[in-house]
Amino acid sequence: MTGGGRGPAPAGDAAAENTLTRPPEPDVALLEIDNLQVGFDTEDGLLRAVDGVSCQVDGGRTLGVVGESGCGKSVTASSILRLVPSPPGRMLGGEIRFDGTDILSLPREELGRIRGREIAMIFQDPMTSLNPVFTVEKQMGEVLRLRFDLTGEPARARAAEMLSTVGIADARSRLSSYPHELSGGMKQRVMIAMALLSEPRLLIADEPTTALDVTIQAQILHLIREMQAETGAAVLFITHDMGVVAEMCDEVAVMYAGRVVEQAGVIEIYERPRHPYTKGLLMSVPRKGQTKDRALPTIEGVVPSLLEPPKGCRFADRCWHRKRLGEADRARCVDEDPALRSLEGGRVACHFPLKGDETPPVEPPPGAGLSDPVTSDGPPPGTGVE
Ligand SMILES: Nc1ncnc2c1ncn2[C@@H]1O[C@H](COP(=O)(O)OP(=O)(O)OP(=O)(O)O)[C@@H](O)[C@H]1O
Ligand code: SF4
Ligand SMILES: [Mg+2]
Repeated sequence: MTGGGRGPAPAGDAAAENTLTRPPEPDVALLEIDNLQVGFDTEDGLLRAVDGVSCQVDGGRTLGVVGESGCGKSVTASSILRLVPSPPGRMLGGEIRFDGTDILSLPREELGRIRGREIAMIFQDPMTSLNPVFTVEKQMGEVLRLRFDLTGEPARARAAEMLSTVGIADARSRLSSYPHELSGGMKQRVMIAMALLSEPRLLIADEPTTALDVTIQAQILHLIREMQAETGAAVLFITHDMGVVAEMCDEVAVMYAGRVVEQAGVIEIYERPRHPYTKGLLMSVPRKGQTKDRALPTIEGVVPSLLEPPKGCRFADRCWHRKRLGEADRARCVDEDPALRSLEGGRVACHFPLKGDETPPVEPPPGAGLSDPVTSDGPPPGTGVE
């Protein structure tokens, strides 16, 4: 991910000298995650859910995070607000910096000031953030009071306005509802309304529109973009929908088995994926105009256990590209863990990155083309990753 803009250069000779003698200021992104490691103590041992994730997001930019179910997207997102339940969760290492502040060592009260004001999160499960014992008005009112010191009728009016904007009919009367009186989709929209109300500097959106119909989904995505254009917020957008990635994101981080395996600009990712997993992911998404029974490439096999991950490349078992390599190179994939390294403006964790014209094999499955190697239920319609 590209870094934040640097300040203007000082004028005059002294400035010229400074420029020559001083090392360039490091680019500092609004959010920087560096080698994050998070584990869960389970009956079978330590499960390394996030195992060395690094990524950055600048103000005004959107980083999409994609990857199969269980690869560590939500745990990474929850770590930013220190919301991983402990026990069983444990921070094992790494750093998270928000505007230069080390989040992981921040005293609780200071963290409380950042949560919901500077950083807001839309959770995958709305009930994670809605309090069942308070009305919608009370919960939205608290956001407005803390963030803008807004109370009484002006706060009520603003809350109702935001509820209508996220597609909730009869918004004024909905303000007095408790979460259990709302449908799943409505709860999700209330949570989105609360996150947007606070006009955060960083919005973390974890599958924000999964339970919503396509019209409402389009409205919400539009709202997030609008808020971002007005406030210059950074957005971390987790999704399974590669179509939404193309629409919303500037950069994409592809996660696999607790790690980022590729990160690049959205156009580069779509036009020239360098990691075989990214390529497989993109090719398993049906394109416009493609008939349903047309075969699509699938990624065979299952994600390795995070209790005892393989010592080499975690994707090796499933890698279609590896099968085409020579014996020595195939062995290297299994023996040596590929580091995430810079490559032509992006980053990739593969010993033998794709050059561009390689494609995964197409094996026509019975019926529709998508397959889900992890779950037996198959992917939700219109998505490409799970
Ligand atoms: N509270 C917990 N206790 C034990 N393991 C957990 C806990 N929460 C998450 N995990 C494990 O951590 C790993 C990463 O989970 P995470 O929720 O981040 O996946 P995800 O990428 O968000 O998946 P999905 O796309 O299904 O939301 C998974 O193996 C999951 O089972
Ligand atoms: S390192 Fe080897 S196994 Fe891993 S993605 Fe690259 S080619 Fe495939
Ligand atoms: Mg998740």
